[in-house]
Amino acid sequence: MSLPARVRIVEVGPRDGLQNEKAIIPAAAKIELIDRLTATGLRSIEATSFVSPKWVPQLADAAEVFAGIHRAPGVAYPVLVPNLQGYERARAVGAEEVAVFTAASEAFNRKNINAGIDESIERFMPVLERARADGVKVRGYVSTVLGCPYQGEVPVADVVRVASRMHALGCYEVSLGDTIGIGTPGAARAMLRAVAAEVPMAALAIHFHDTRGQALANILACLGEGVAVVDAAVSGTGGCPYAPGASGNVATEDVVYMLEGMGIATGVDLPRLVDTGRWLAALLGRSSGSKVTLAAG
Ligand code: HMG
Ligand code: MG
Repeated sequence: MSLPARVRIVEVGPRDGLQNEKAIIPAAAKIELIDRLTATGLRSIEATSFVSPKWVPQLADAAEVFAGIHRAPGVAYPVLVPNLQGYERARAVGAEEVAVFTAASEAFNRKNINAGIDESIERFMPVLERARADGVKVRGYVSTVLGCPYQGEVPVADVVRVASRMHALGCYEVSLGDTIGIGTPGAARAMLRAVAAEVPMAALAIHFHDTRGQALANILACLGEGVAVVDAAVSGTGGCPYAPGASGNVATEDVVYMLEGMGIATGVDLPRLVDTGRWLAALLGRSSGSKVTLAAG
């Protein structure tokens, strides 16, 4: 198993981590979270989501948050956009990278974005066109790559088809999401290997929710395949409001601990990240979802 020397972590806490929180968190706290994350050395921080506020009320303040953060040079702050309307809102406040999203499961897509897979891709085609013209980078997400809360099994062939389409349409990176944290390492590795036969590994990322405690094992299995971009959320926050049973993302602290422990560089200052995770857990009124943080007392 040959492992990458360096891994880029895409911190999704401010977006995936917060989108499912019921109590509205003030924009100022979201801004502070992102600024604190910037100070940890993370180089990719998904800041918020310009989706319909009716669908995700927690992130209705996306424009205020994005306009309020202190963007550091060399750090990317992608934002989720489901359609051209979201793209325009994001651009109006200066977003330079966006993420479009769909799923390998038809059923999940209908619940999450009220569109089938093909229709969702049609919808973000204009986003890709505009982004190309504007010099804006576009990341893509494929959800439910290892199982769907509505459809059950998701054939790997469907994941490969959707991921390669997104890459062909211009997504510089495609993040493969185990939305409900259902996969185990063998399935994760086989899925990644199949996708990597069609999309260069350098254009792939992995996104594991930790619902069943499999995320770190899945990440390790995928690192062995050569993937070098890992999504994670500080304090293990997260979950999709339209995926019942989806609990938090893998905690960034735990990913950094594992990687650095294996000699894989992340560029992240772990003590600072642990502090930030503690601060966030206190804000949310619960204990941290990071084992590393809990162990530190
Ligand atoms: P719809 O209701 O089918 O669309 O929603 P619509 O075009 O009919 O719009 C409905 C209303 O929303 C209209 O307002 C639009 O103007 C407005 P009204 O006329 O009723 O007053 N609207 C918007 N407002 C602001 N910004 C926008 C926007 N678009 C429409 N961009 C839609 C379709 C896609 C908009 C909706 O389903 C939606 O926003 N869904 C988002 C769901 C979501 O954010 N889910 C979580 C993110 S995905 C995820 O977490 C998975 C991931 O982490 C990877 C993994 O774990 O697998 C990425
Ligand atoms: Mg997610």
